[in-house]
Amino acid sequence: MEKRKEGSQDNLLEVKNLKISFKTDEGIVTAVDGIDFSVKHGQTLGIVGESGSGKSVSTWSIMRLLPKNSIIDKGSSIRFQRKSGKTVEITKLKANSRELRKIRGGEVALIFQEPMSSFSPVYTIGNQIMEAVLHHRDVTKEEAEEIAVDMLDRVGISNPRQRFKQYPFELSGGMRQRAMIAVALSMNPSLLIADEPTTSLDVTIQAQILELMNELQEDLGMSIIFITHNLGVIAQVADEIEVMYLGKILERGTTKDIIKQPEHPYTQALLKAIPRLDHLGERLTAIQGDIPSPLSRPVGCPFYTRCDDVISGVCDVKMPEPTQLSDTHTVYCFLHEEKDD
Ligand SMILES: Nc1ncnc2c1ncn2[C@@H]1O[C@H](COP(=O)(O)OP(=O)(O)OP(=O)(O)O)[C@@H](O)[C@H]1O
Ligand SMILES: [Mg+2]
Repeated sequence: MEKRKEGSQDNLLEVKNLKISFKTDEGIVTAVDGIDFSVKHGQTLGIVGESGSGKSVSTWSIMRLLPKNSIIDKGSSIRFQRKSGKTVEITKLKANSRELRKIRGGEVALIFQEPMSSFSPVYTIGNQIMEAVLHHRDVTKEEAEEIAVDMLDRVGISNPRQRFKQYPFELSGGMRQRAMIAVALSMNPSLLIADEPTTSLDVTIQAQILELMNELQEDLGMSIIFITHNLGVIAQVADEIEVMYLGKILERGTTKDIIKQPEHPYTQALLKAIPRLDHLGERLTAIQGDIPSPLSRPVGCPFYTRCDDVISGVCDVKMPEPTQLSDTHTVYCFLHEEKDD
C-alpha cells in the first residue's frame, strides 16, 4: 500500500466526544472526559501527556480492551474504517461480536511497554508469531511460518530462522520489543497502537526502534497512534500531536506546531522536561506540583492547579473553549481566548 499524501481528508479513525469512566469503591472516576481525535491514512498521531492523563484508556477503547468496571459514555463515538472500506461505529459493536474480534488484531494491533508479559514463556517466539498469523489470516501453516520468518527479518532480527526457534527469555529487551512489533505487523493491521513501546529501552535501542517504525510505516502504509510521556520521542515519529492532561486534550497541532510554537503552558512545561543528549548533566525542569487525583478533578481547566500563568477566577471556573490558532493548531487555554477579544 502506498503512503497517502499529507492533507488527505480521508480519516482511518475518528473519535468524537469520547468519555470513559470507571466504577471504583471510592465512586465513579472519569478517566477520559469528552475528547476528540482522528488519524489519517498512513500517518502517525502522537498522544503525549504525564501518567494518568488517559492516553492508554482512550486508545485501548478503540479495540474495546477496557477492564470490566469501565463505562464508555453513550454520547461517545469511535468511527473506524475497515479494510473493506466500510465504516463501523466501534462503540455500538457487541463485546464479543465477530466483527469486533476481526478488527482486534486483524485490523487494529497493539504493542506496549512490557514485551516480556505479552509473550508466553513456554512457546518459542516463532510459534507465537505463527499463531497470531494463523488466527488472523487465511494461510496454511507453511505460509504462516514464512510470514513469521519474514517479519522477524523485517524488524531487523538477524538469523531469523534460528531466532524463530528461541524462547522469549533468550532474547534481549530490544529484540523482544522488535519481536513484539513483528507479531503485531504479521497480522497486517491498518492501525497500529504503540503504547509507550520504547520507554523501557535504552536510548540507542529506542532510536533504532523508532527508525524501524518509521520505515515499516513507509513500506506497509499503515497508520500509527504513538503514545508517550516524552515529547522528544514523539517529535521523531508523529505527523500530528495531541497533548493530554487528566482526561482532556489541551492542545493539538502538527508536530511542527507543537514543538516550535507550543501555546499551552502545559505543553511548554512538557517541552522543558525533555531530556536532551546534548545537555546531559543539566537539571531537567520537572513540572511543578502534583497531578490531582482523578477522584477530585479540578473544576475548570484541569491544569490550573500547577500552571504558572493561572488567571484566578477564570481558569478555576470553567474549561476554556478551543481557540483555533491556524488550520492545524488548536489550544484550550484562557490566555488565548483573551487575546482574541
Ligand atoms: N481499571 C481501572 N479502574 C479504575 N480507574 C482506572 C482503571 N484503569 C485506569 N483508570 C483511571 O484512568 C486514568 C487514566 O489511565 P491511563 O492508564 O489511560 O493513563 P495513561 O495516560 O496511559 O498513564 P501512563 O502514562 O501512566 O500509562 C488513571 O488515572 C486511572 O484513574
Ligand atoms: Mg498508559
